[in-house]
Amino acid sequence: MKIKRCIFFSITFFALGITGCYYDVEEELYPAVECDTQSVSYSGTVQPLLSGNCYVCHSAAVNTAGITLEGYNNLKVYVDNGRFLGAIQHQPGFSPMPQGAAQLPECDILKIEQWITDGAPNN
Ligand code: HEC
Repeated sequence: MKIKRCIFFSITFFALGITGCYYDVEEELYPAVECDTQSVSYSGTVQPLLSGNCYVCHSAAVNTAGITLEGYNNLKVYVDNGRFLGAIQHQPGFSPMPQGAAQLPECDILKIEQWITDGAPNN
């Protein structure tokens, strides 16, 4: 009986776009390797990530596609127009970055998102 009921609810919830019979285990949802986004900053977090992954094409000297991400003021333009986040998150409508390489690790993207949520300070 219980299984039949579960299947019934699963189908019902699936139709509603909700997964039925889901068992939330905290350890599985939030693995031990956590991403520390507590103390992100431009100079300590964002700039080194860009330097390692993006300056090869978007430094002031290289300026690929007319896009320079080197220097806070240059980067801020792309933070404010949303193209920076759209590109690294691989959102539809944006060119996925870094071009020709794997997407940045999820934790690095989370740190950048946190920095932007904090108002993208020049710190
Ligand atoms: C191998 C060279 C290369 C690397 C590395 C690279 N880019 Fe790009 N990037 C390009 C080129 C070429 C374009 C323009 C052509 C295009 O849009 O596909 C571009 C475009 C962009 C754009 C504009 C995208 C849009 O849709 O408006 C942004 C923002 C950007 N890059 C950010 C980054 C960031 C951030 C990194 C590092 C995580 C990065 N790029 C790494 C070559 C590169």
